[in-house]
Amino acid sequence: MSVLAVAVGGRGVVDPGEPVLRADDEALLRGRGAFETIRVYAGKPFRLAEHLDRLATSAERIGLPPVNRIELEELARQALEAAATPDAVLRLVWTPTPTSLAIVTALAEHYDALRERGQRLISLRGARADEPWLLPGVKSTSYAVNMAAEAEARRRGADDAVFVDADRIVLEGPTTNIWWRRRRTLFTPSLELGILAGVTRAAVIELASGAGYVVEEGAYPLEELAGAEEAFTSSSVREVMPVVELDDAHLGRGPAADELQAALRHAAEATLSP
Ligand SMILES: Cc1ncc(COP(=O)(O)O)c(C=O)c1O
Repeated sequence: MSVLAVAVGGRGVVDPGEPVLRADDEALLRGRGAFETIRVYAGKPFRLAEHLDRLATSAERIGLPPVNRIELEELARQALEAAATPDAVLRLVWTPTPTSLAIVTALAEHYDALRERGQRLISLRGARADEPWLLPGVKSTSYAVNMAAEAEARRRGADDAVFVDADRIVLEGPTTNIWWRRRRTLFTPSLELGILAGVTRAAVIELASGAGYVVEEGAYPLEELAGAEEAFTSSSVREVMPVVELDDAHLGRGPAADELQAALRHAAEATLSP
């Protein structure tokens, strides 16, 4: 991860090598922090308000002090100005001490090539977080399991994973939501399964009808995804990314992934116009 700039509550922009957390911060000791990862287009974070809403909800659910939204917005502005890189990734972190951080990193260079080639996914058993104490839909700094799933996918020669529950109901990826298409209907797992309410997922739902698709949300077995006409993932950083393989079986390419990726970029550009 190439860090371009860091801004810290009460301090402003600091050298990225500076310590920014207290040793007793439970975000560090127990993963009890909340965070957001946001795509920056031409210097502007896409759907910042929605990300701050989700950060506030995550913080509340894990018992953190209320998020200081104004401070985080200001830190984001300062970090983006210091980074001076139009297309980048902005992370906002809120911890129990409380400490607020805005971190700007460079976009990984291989995403466009991966979009061109399409992703290979493997299905992995994940926990269905549908009980409140399993923190459904909370984006906490306890992401070691998600990162281990990504590493397992790479170890098996794939690009990423998709979690299924004990009954093989499709959930989400470690850092993505999952979609697939049959004719003009796009299917995606329901938020009731305890998955993260992706900001990009919400954007795709909005954009789908303009592209001529109907969206259906529900609880679907893995076979539905495996038998789809095309599939793709959505996330702030990777945007809309086609899937070409699931558990070593080939999945067809189709128009929806490209159309929705174009619609997403168009929506981002539209927020930049004066
Ligand atoms: C578990 C999980 N699901 C889905 C997503 C996609 O969410 P968004 O579109 O808001 O980036 C993420 C994002 O990091 C995630 O961590």
